Amino acid sequence: MAKTIEELVQQIKERLNIVDVVSEKVILKKNGNHYWGLCPFHKEKTPSFSVNPRLGIYKCFGCGEGGDALSFIMKTENRDFMDVITELAERFGLEMPARIHKEGSKELKDQMMSACQKAAEYYNTYLLQDKSPDTLKVMEYLSNRGITKDIIQKYSIGLASKAPTKLYELLKAKFSDEVLEKAGLIVQSRNQGYLDRFRHRITIPIQNEFGDYVAFGARAIDSDQSPKYLNSSDSLIYNKSKLLFGLYTAKDTIKEDDCVILMEGYFDVISAQAHGITNAVATCGTSLTAEHIRLLSRYLKSRKIYLSFDTDSAGQKATNRNAELIKEAFQGLGNIKQFDESYISTSDDRYACEIRVIAPPEGKDPDEFIRSVGAESYKEYMKNAPLLIDFQVNSLLSHKKELKTPIDKTRFIKELIPVLQEINNEIIQSEYIKMVAGALDINEDALYREIKKSKSLETIASPEINRIVKKNVSISEKAQKNLLSVFLVPDSHFTFQQINEMIGDTQFTDEMLIIVKSTIDKLTNSVNNVKELIENLYTAFLDNPEIQNLITDLISISETFNNLDDRDFQNIIRENINKIIQCQKDEEKEKMRNLYNSANDNETEALKIQMQLRDKINKRLKLEKMND
Ligand code: UTP
Ligand code: MN
Repeated sequence: MAKTIEELVQQIKERLNIVDVVSEKVILKKNGNHYWGLCPFHKEKTPSFSVNPRLGIYKCFGCGEGGDALSFIMKTENRDFMDVITELAERFGLEMPARIHKEGSKELKDQMMSACQKAAEYYNTYLLQDKSPDTLKVMEYLSNRGITKDIIQKYSIGLASKAPTKLYELLKAKFSDEVLEKAGLIVQSRNQGYLDRFRHRITIPIQNEFGDYVAFGARAIDSDQSPKYLNSSDSLIYNKSKLLFGLYTAKDTIKEDDCVILMEGYFDVISAQAHGITNAVATCGTSLTAEHIRLLSRYLKSRKIYLSFDTDSAGQKATNRNAELIKEAFQGLGNIKQFDESYISTSDDRYACEIRVIAPPEGKDPDEFIRSVGAESYKEYMKNAPLLIDFQVNSLLSHKKELKTPIDKTRFIKELIPVLQEINNEIIQSEYIKMVAGALDINEDALYREIKKSKSLETIASPEINRIVKKNVSISEKAQKNLLSVFLVPDSHFTFQQINEMIGDTQFTDEMLIIVKSTIDKLTNSVNNVKELIENLYTAFLDNPEIQNLITDLISISETFNNLDDRDFQNIIRENINKIIQCQKDEEKEKMRNLYNSANDNETEALKIQMQLRDKINKRLKLEKMND
């Protein structure tokens, strides 16, 4: 039996054949030492997805995805590490290690989660059973907003009373002060010892995607109570920027329906899920991050995301901001979906993502809409939800009545241009331009020209200096990658120790490379050969697909250093070290020059030119419109 999870992973990896694993999902053809096929992670017509059986890895040269057999299963099946390991262990008749994690903090984390769960239970029971006037008032409030006893039970909604230490008194027999404090349930006061963190609030327990209780959102009861929602701070078990409220109860539907609805508030999600819209999630009082999106994409094959925020202007802004973030997170995977199939044939398009907006005219937020109009109607709005681009154009056009003067229109068009500019397909773009020009009663050609012009303005705006710095960074990064990949060359005659000495104290600057380097440093003390090093590297970063891709990158670079004689091998190392040093020097110089330039007010000059250009264009637009 494996003693540790690492050992078990090792045993599983020995039994997995990358070609077999990949072949279950991709048709592979052998060519030389590699197998090739159509990448399952992005749409392509010619194979750029390769499998290297000797190293046990795959890599797509089109989209950059890469990893080993385990990460292939995790990524293509949207499953987490423990899930996959447990299943494979069973399939191969391997026993799970008795204690899965050995780190000391695991126990602390378990205790913190268990304390959160106990707290949730206590608050919930208190809300349901206490009969004091205060509690009955809260029950009435909840019932008025459609939160039934069933819902209270299902989501363990509870009540933290006004009493200062009730929870603490109850839990201190079972948990240490450290655990309770770290879990964010109690706070140390200046002179009264520990106090409950949540008082006189409706408590909403927050579960992570596996169902563990990790935090609370707590809503004010009185209208003058501030803040409206008091949220647990981040802790060992709770990272707001990586956790989505409701995901545990939503994940199966998200996977099945292959789409998710992002909402803003706890009660939006509770309301939606309670009414059968079970694929709704929300952030926990923070803004959406790329990590949230990555978390979701584990369950979302086609990356279809509905945004359903408040219908006021703040909600619209949030919609646009979050849409930007989602697009960025999926950058490199292809285009965002911008038109429906029925509109134009899209046979050879697969999308990086599909963003739709649910914005019914009634109700302030999804919760209110579902309560007042109904879940069925919400589902109907969802079915007909416009694509992001249509939502953006329409919500801008809805203001058109407010546009009285040419200046109003010009200002308005300024907002619209970036939206129209993003349309990839020229035919579609011209259709939109026609529609917008018609709706605003402006000259179509002028609008078209404006869009093209503003694109070239963008390029003027990025100063030469930035480009040089960027180029430099990429040269240095490439050299740093080369240097790291030297560790992964299978048939070099140098030991890890010798390579380390050659690299010396060369400064790595890229954050991810620094992390990988330090892990390599650690691993080289214990592994016997490159194969083991690679396997352990993948295992070390199982929860970090970005670094896994980087490792695969490094491995494919290392292949180019195969079969070098010792002198060439050493030369490669030396050359790349020199490049890194040179880049550092260049950068220093560039910084100096930048300082000098800004002292000379060069930037203000560039800005001035840009403003003048814009003015000119705006003037011309005005003229054109007057002439029309
Ligand atoms: P809203 O103010 O829109 O509240 O905040 P809501 O969700 O509609 O709440 P109800 O229906 O009035 O009870 C949206 C979300 O922003 C976060 C919470 O996650 C909330 O659900 N928020 C809001 C905070 O974290 N702190 C606050 O003080 C306010
Ligand atoms: Mn609300």
